[in-house]
Amino acid sequence: MRFQNTILVLFFSLFISTLCKNDDESAAVFISSLSSSSGHLTFALSASDPTVSQDVFFHISGPSSYSYIGIGTGTVMQGGLMFVMYSNATGDGITLSSRIATGNNEPVFSPTLDIDILPGSNTSNGLMTVNARCKNCLSWSSGALNLSDTVYPWNYALGPNTAQNVKLTSNSPSACLEMHVEYGLFTLDMTHLTMGAGALPTSFTSPIGSRASGSPVLTSNFPTIIHAVLATIPLVLFLPTGVIFLRIFPGSVRWHWVSQTVSSVIGLFGAAVGFYLSTWFNKSKSFSSGHQIIGYIICAGMIVQWFLGFWQHRIYKQKQSPTKYGLIHRYLGHFVFVLAIIDGGVGLSWSYTASPVIIGYSVAVGVVAIVHFSLVAWKRWEKQKPHGVGIFEIKTQQNSPEADRNL
Ligand code: HEM
Ligand code: HEM
Ligand SMILES: *[C@@H]1O[C@H](CO)[C@@H](O)[C@H](O)[C@H]1NC(C)=O
Ligand SMILES: *[C@@H]1O[C@H](CO)[C@@H](O)[C@H](O)[C@H]1NC(C)=O
Ligand SMILES: *[C@@H]1O[C@H](CO)[C@@H](O)[C@H](O)[C@H]1NC(C)=O
Repeated sequence: MRFQNTILVLFFSLFISTLCKNDDESAAVFISSLSSSSGHLTFALSASDPTVSQDVFFHISGPSSYSYIGIGTGTVMQGGLMFVMYSNATGDGITLSSRIATGNNEPVFSPTLDIDILPGSNTSNGLMTVNARCKNCLSWSSGALNLSDTVYPWNYALGPNTAQNVKLTSNSPSACLEMHVEYGLFTLDMTHLTMGAGALPTSFTSPIGSRASGSPVLTSNFPTIIHAVLATIPLVLFLPTGVIFLRIFPGSVRWHWVSQTVSSVIGLFGAAVGFYLSTWFNKSKSFSSGHQIIGYIICAGMIVQWFLGFWQHRIYKQKQSPTKYGLIHRYLGHFVFVLAIIDGGVGLSWSYTASPVIIGYSVAVGVVAIVHFSLVAWKRWEKQKPHGVGIFEIKTQQNSPEADRNL
């Protein structure tokens, strides 16, 4: 009798647990509120019984104000499988891109995964949603998704959602991504996942078998900002100011020399940060895009300028007469200045900066350029007037007649 009871109980609990598996617990669901905006992120995952099929089904949804929503395996970017979703070119559908990153840098599209987008995937009412089936995902990389792990690590990342950024809308699975503004880690109880033939999770309204690991982390792309500030300001503001030091006030070769040296060193450092930044993005890691090539010319120009200026001044002191180096120095200097203005604008649009920022930049550098070239032109005109006595004339002649003729 006792034995029979035990059998009955065992049978029942087995029956109930099977029932539960097929109903509520056939998927794991992670839901998180976000630090960088209101709204929340939902990720639901289910898989087939591995003996039946290797397919994996998932659902991702979150605010469409983000450029992209990425879900990845692991606790770090490196080596994990990532599903990155963004709006399609017309902004009403979605593009889903499977990617792998080699480290803390832009993940690369991995076309080896065969993913079907299922109905209910779109961008509407402020949400991006994707339902998908990843065919043979379980066998994609042996052990990559471990269905017997109760604390399997996952992560999510959210693309820029600020007004300074252009929102990504693209049909291409290898579209360029900018760095995330927020990421977070969580674990899923993968033993919740399996169901016979496999199907989309049916309910995503409450969390099942998931746990956040720590709080969401806000990230800043400070290397980009450091690059932009240190490359742009010395080149488009300090270098022309150094020309004013030489030709207008106080008309001193030494002031010019010190100012141009400091600006060039800072500018070259800013460009060096650009080299580091180039390793982050797929568009820049071959070091051959327009922005980078113009950047190389500017860097070379700055270095050549320094030696030309130095050489010309040395010869001038010996011969007391203008040299051709001085002439080249003057024209190359203005050329580098104009090139830097252009490259700053190219850099901004290359990194998907919103047009108000680009317009602001253009106005600011336009004003600097107009003031600079007006002062220079006016100075030359004053000098060319027969016996012209301009307000700055006396000072310049006292301090450095060389400056007037040559630099
Ligand atoms: C252009 C694209 C991306 C770039 C340049 C990038 C770059 C970076 C950088 C520099 C960090 C370190 C941040 C810090 O320590 O504050 C980081 C961390 C992280 N990123 Fe990305 N990321 C990109 C896309 C993604 C995507 C699509 C995902 C996920 C689907 C992701 C997930 C993570 C995670 C989980 C961390 C924390 C890892 C750790 O603590 O080492 N990232 N990323
Ligand atoms: C020397 C003159 C240069 C100037 C004035 C300049 C300026 C800029 C500016 C204003 C941005 C936009 C940053 C932002 O959106 O916040 C930018 C981005 C960038 N620049 Fe430069 N840059 C220069 C040289 C270089 C060089 C030599 C390289 C590398 C070889 C480089 C690589 C980059 C990269 C990778 C980005 C980031 C793109 C992104 O965030 O998507 N730059 N640059
Ligand atoms: C974007 O997706 C929507 C909805 O699926 C579709 O109607 C539209 O044609 C797609 N746009 C492009 C450019 O593919
Ligand atoms: C868009 O997707 C949501 C969520 O899957 C769904 O409820 C809605 O009906 C879809 N809208 C359209 C127009 O397909
Ligand atoms: C899968 O997870 C289980 C439980 O955590 C662990 O014992 C096993 O070694 C894992 N398998 C692989 C291939 O990593």
